[in-house]
Amino acid sequence: MFPSKVPRVFVLASTVLLFLVTYTTLHLYHRVPPSYPAADPQILPIQDAIIPEGQSDVNHVVAADIITDILTPTIITPVPSPTSKDEEPAWKLKTDNALSQPSAQPTILSDDTAAGDKSGEEEHQQPLPDPKLCSKELEFLVRSSIDLGLTERVHYVRRYIKPIFSDTANRDDIANITEPLVKGEIEIDLYQCGDVIIPQSESIKLVVPKPYPRTKLSHLMFGVATDYKRLNDSIVPFTHWISGTGAKLVAVVTDAKDKSPEDIKRLQRSFEIADIDVTLVKPISGDFSTSQNHFAVLINMLQQDSPDTQWYGLIDDDTFFPNLKPLSDSLAMLDHKTDAYVGALSEDFQSVRSFGFMAFGGAGAFLSAPLAKKLSDQALQCIHDATTKEGDTILRDCVYSNSKAKLTILPGLYQQDLRDDASGFFEAGLKPLNLHHWKSWYKAPVEKMAKAAKLCGDCFLQRWRFGNDTVFSNGFSIVKYPDGVESVNLQLMEGTWGKADSKDFDFSLGPLRQPYPADQKKSYKLRGAEFTESGDLRQLYVRTADTSKDEDELDQVIELIWQRH
Ligand SMILES: *[C@@H]1O[C@H](CO)[C@@H](O)[C@H](O)[C@H]1NC(C)=O
Ligand SMILES: *[C@@H]1O[C@H](CO)[C@@H](O)[C@H](O)[C@H]1NC(C)=O
Ligand SMILES: *[C@@H]1O[C@H](CO)[C@@H](O)[C@H](O)[C@H]1NC(C)=O
Repeated sequence: MFPSKVPRVFVLASTVLLFLVTYTTLHLYHRVPPSYPAADPQILPIQDAIIPEGQSDVNHVVAADIITDILTPTIITPVPSPTSKDEEPAWKLKTDNALSQPSAQPTILSDDTAAGDKSGEEEHQQPLPDPKLCSKELEFLVRSSIDLGLTERVHYVRRYIKPIFSDTANRDDIANITEPLVKGEIEIDLYQCGDVIIPQSESIKLVVPKPYPRTKLSHLMFGVATDYKRLNDSIVPFTHWISGTGAKLVAVVTDAKDKSPEDIKRLQRSFEIADIDVTLVKPISGDFSTSQNHFAVLINMLQQDSPDTQWYGLIDDDTFFPNLKPLSDSLAMLDHKTDAYVGALSEDFQSVRSFGFMAFGGAGAFLSAPLAKKLSDQALQCIHDATTKEGDTILRDCVYSNSKAKLTILPGLYQQDLRDDASGFFEAGLKPLNLHHWKSWYKAPVEKMAKAAKLCGDCFLQRWRFGNDTVFSNGFSIVKYPDGVESVNLQLMEGTWGKADSKDFDFSLGPLRQPYPADQKKSYKLRGAEFTESGDLRQLYVRTADTSKDEDELDQVIELIWQRH
């Protein structure tokens, strides 16, 4: 488009000038700057969690009152809640929190300000690609390229997929599709894509399961305990699995007393907008650590129960469900009218040795209604008697000392104690009921990945083989093996994560195969996904250029468009 070229020249010229003046490295130039620098909450200084005394204390009390209003008045107050500025037990918790939780909360604002300044500077260095200057067909790619920090030009392949819904085909078969998946590649300049012509090819027909039926899940209640900021950050992933399902969520805001009533209202509102049936509560005792609150939330959950509630799930704030229906179906095979304690061990036997035989917190601990009631009545005693501070170990001890229930392991639940590269897990054709550790031990955009489950249910992580060298794991990756798929045993999980060779994972995920040499495994990982207005699902699989070898190498993107109609 010619008219747009003129201002472009201007912008580029001033950019080059600025570049020279500020001695920026060439390297910066190669990549599109992200729209905002991703601030890592983990590295915030701990002191920032401590708010100056005085006025903020008044806020704590008010905030606490507000939350109490939402609750039916709580009788259990083992530690007197601070009613005047003079009483200091609140500070104890604050210190606890700061020590046990590196993510300091109240710095959100100053952090945002810093980020704003920085991105302001960077914007002058280079303009961002503008989706409006591109053909509408590439709008999603160009918009995503900003957050993904793609190279200015990319190699791009687009394929259309026509899902054929079936409830008889075996989802676990790896169907052979004779034609190649990665074909028709073009090079696109993300800054100049107004007249790009995308090669058209026949859509590929893939047989997939039917989407999950919409059912009310009001018999499920979930409890979580975390700080304000992490809870706010959890709204998007929580929305994916709980929004509009009828399942209830009870959340202990561990730093509620540091928050103003407006803050709490704003958070409550954000959940409501997301159609999440949430009850925000303050910790039952100011003395409890976050880990103790992980267990104590059970008391709050029982205050919200209804005759409908069959299962009480205690989860971590990074426990994620691709969809609640399979979890609900699995739990339905158990008897919720007897004492039942349900969950999963760690996949790492070393952790089982250290912590014991229990429902590991990240996989969720699910209690049947009668057991939940029994434990809730004993909860404060259990916390008092506990020799450990972890919520899941307190729960385990509380179950074993107050009931005859033993752990029922529910297949499909995962603690996901997998560090760094979890791709072996995701490329093994599993149907996980939940995921965990996706924003700490390993990084994966689970909420985008699992959009596939909304389109075709169990097709999330379903695998297909294309041609003689490509394996597609839906929602996670497209992998090309130059040596051919025959060189890979797809029936075994690849031990890609740290410690996979320790033998400690054989009892849970094994037998494992050796990690495939990275230079012989060309992976495109899912980095973006969204539904279009017409209900099509767009997925972006990205292979990031390795500029350490060749600095002109371009990122490669495969866009798959699952057509609804
Ligand atoms: C696909 O091809 C492989 C290798 O030829 C074969 O072992 C496998 O059974 C085929 N899969 C299906 C579902 O037919
Ligand atoms: C809450 O999260 C949203 C993004 O999901 C962000 O825009 C907002 O600033 C956050 N608020 C606080 C107080 O952290
Ligand atoms: C895959 O098939 C193509 C075309 O038939 C052939 O050129 C290539 O060598 C094959 N690759 C492997 C790894 O078998």
